[in-house]
Amino acid sequence: MAEVVLAAGLQKEYPGHKAVAGIDFEIMAGECFGILGPNGAGKSTTLRMVIGLTDLDGGRLELFDQPMYPEHPTLSKMIGVVPQEDNLDPDLSVGENLLVYGRYFGLSDKEVQAKMDELLVFAQLEDRKNAMVRELSGGMMRRLMIARSLVASPDLIVLDEPTTGLDPQARHLIWQRLRALREQGVTLLLTTHYMEEAAQLCDRLLILNRGQILDQGSPTQLIARHVEPEVVEVRGNGNLANIKELSHLPGRMEQVGDTLFFYSDDAHTILGFFRDHHHLTCLMRPANLEDVFLKLTGRELKD
Ligand SMILES: Nc1ncnc2c1ncn2[C@@H]1O[C@H](COP(=O)(O)OP(=O)(O)O)[C@@H](O)[C@H]1O
Ligand SMILES: [Mg+2]
Repeated sequence: MAEVVLAAGLQKEYPGHKAVAGIDFEIMAGECFGILGPNGAGKSTTLRMVIGLTDLDGGRLELFDQPMYPEHPTLSKMIGVVPQEDNLDPDLSVGENLLVYGRYFGLSDKEVQAKMDELLVFAQLEDRKNAMVRELSGGMMRRLMIARSLVASPDLIVLDEPTTGLDPQARHLIWQRLRALREQGVTLLLTTHYMEEAAQLCDRLLILNRGQILDQGSPTQLIARHVEPEVVEVRGNGNLANIKELSHLPGRMEQVGDTLFFYSDDAHTILGFFRDHHHLTCLMRPANLEDVFLKLTGRELKD
């Protein structure tokens, strides 16, 4: 499989601190690669370097086996970009936004018109072609931004927090559209701070915190590597102090406020122990990326 992005020792420094502190990753053709991390982790800075909007302060970047440099004419056509902030033209219609964007890539209006129906169907905006952008919902705008990024038929699409601020219905619809793109063989690079989004969409993930990689791998690999497979959450409802003798229970226990978290490969024994504690609320679930993230970064607030 061919490498679409190769980043080695990627660095970006702002006065006083390193936003990206020397990170390495590779993105293979056809995969959905995610950068997962909290606000300020360096996700957008990394994307901006990948798309040539920000210079590197160190390291090396290759895209499609070519060294990256800003304003590279063929590369820019091969990369579709969906930035974190909506930057559609509110005074133009949906269709006009696509036409104007196509001109940046040297596409004639006729060429964009020929693709227009397909793009509108993709975005589920086929009956909104003449609607003004300012009349669209947040989810529609995001779908239009994604459709717009497809105007020049890119091989790689880079999306910065594609669903932040959207309601669950709108988010699920975006996930479907991104999966459809991946099935068409488009390579996707996205950032998110939603663990569930990363788990739902990404073949491989890089967990970024304070400009540094904590780990990378597939969601299932990351979970298997860092946490026990089953989690029992026991909410005390004010009664935790009454529980005696927990040390014989299998696995690892963490107490956070009035909740006990048991990470184990034997959740049934733990549930069995708590069966007679009627004042407690017990919940069993599989371990997830959030558990991995909290294990790697700790639970205390960082700011
Ligand atoms: N243009 C800039 N000038 C100075 N600091 C910046 C700039 N852009 C980002 N930063 C800082 O770099 C760090 C990483 O920012 P960013 O890449 O936007 O994080 P994320 O997208 O993960 O929230 C943050 O501490 C942010 O304040
Ligand atoms: Mg960001």
